[in-house]
Amino acid sequence: MARIRRTVYACFYAEDDPLPDIAAMLSGEIPPPTEARLGALAVLTGQRHRLNRSELDVLLSVPADRWTELDSPPSEAIRALLAKGLLVSDSDDPALAPLRDRDEALTDNQWNLYSALYHYMTQWGGLELTEGELDPAELSESSRSVAKAHVARYGPPPSAFAEHNGTREIPLPGAERQSPLFRTLLARRTTRSFDSISPMALDELDAVLRYVFGCHGYARNAADVVCIKRTSPSGGGLHPVEAYPIISNVTDVPPGIYHYNAQRHSLTMLESLDISEARRLATFFMCGQKYFGMAHATFILTARFDRNQWKYRRHQKAYAGILMDAAHLSQTLYLAAAELALGAFVTLALNSRDIEERLALDGVKEGVIAAIGCGRPAPGQSPLELSFSSEPPEV
Ligand SMILES: Cc1cc2nc3c(=O)[nH]c(=O)nc-3n(C[C@H](O)[C@H](O)[C@H](O)COP(=O)(O)O)c2cc1C
Repeated sequence: MARIRRTVYACFYAEDDPLPDIAAMLSGEIPPPTEARLGALAVLTGQRHRLNRSELDVLLSVPADRWTELDSPPSEAIRALLAKGLLVSDSDDPALAPLRDRDEALTDNQWNLYSALYHYMTQWGGLELTEGELDPAELSESSRSVAKAHVARYGPPPSAFAEHNGTREIPLPGAERQSPLFRTLLARRTTRSFDSISPMALDELDAVLRYVFGCHGYARNAADVVCIKRTSPSGGGLHPVEAYPIISNVTDVPPGIYHYNAQRHSLTMLESLDISEARRLATFFMCGQKYFGMAHATFILTARFDRNQWKYRRHQKAYAGILMDAAHLSQTLYLAAAELALGAFVTLALNSRDIEERLALDGVKEGVIAAIGCGRPAPGQSPLELSFSSEPPEV
């Protein structure tokens, strides 16, 4: 007979029954108080599940720190809890074994519960956010009306600037700086239209990879662990973020999916594609954002959670550190691209589950965090880009 155990990777909450009595409401009756239902956020399935009272009783009776032998075939409640990823079983049932393996991998890789909840409950798969075939002008028109409807419904946002009633205000000189770094900072922008014909040069890709993701030094920390130097900071000097370039149109680099090897400053081809497959794949990975999918190089950023969490074991801030590491790399890419007169972007709108499957990542030791990219910008400005001016608008 199989043995069962409760997972620690779940959280429970109460929610009001979302099925109010519509007929009663329409006839003006005050609805009776609803009975709250118990729900579970199950990290192992990445889904919310309803629980009934008998399932809750069973769940609370099963320990998480050891296996419990079943001396009879599993009850309906146990089977439901196993399917919901709230209990795990040591059986080799093909529907249940992956959930147990994931539970063990989360434990082995030192995942913190709050981090795991956020990471796995917010992952997407197979999602298309924008109508992929619309041209940018139509898309811009449709997003303008969506944005206007949002303001009509919720009112304007809090103001662009925060104000404090302090005791004194000291005006600052605001000196203009002319050195290249300051000019590059001001040139940084998001690009949403890339040249579909001209390739990006190999030396441009080379510079981006070397100065954004490359290794510029080695050090041993107090525990004699090798830390590497990049142009961006990283929590503990661990640099757990990896880049998987999807190259569509770069001279002398065949289109395909690659891994950037920072140690050797080289590209390892994982999958060969043709140019349109590479663009389609990048677009699909970025939930239908075709304007980004047209970039010459898209970098899928993953985190090697096992490297970060080797040090920050079950640490509540480990995951935030990883997100910040990825954000620093993103800004560095924007700056490197601006310096090279390339366009750049970042997005979190990702079909992470599909990307992990395609890159053969388990999502627990290593998983997807963000995507950034760059390429030769198309002439002119896309209607999808904000037009910034130095003049403050009239209020
Ligand atoms: C975390 C993050 C996620 C973003 N995701 C998207 C996205 O999914 N799609 C998009 O078109 N732009 C995305 N952007 C870009 C912003 O829309 C852009 O930075 C903003 O419009 C300001 O323009 P600028 O970068 O040119 O200053 C993202 C930016 C950040 C920092």
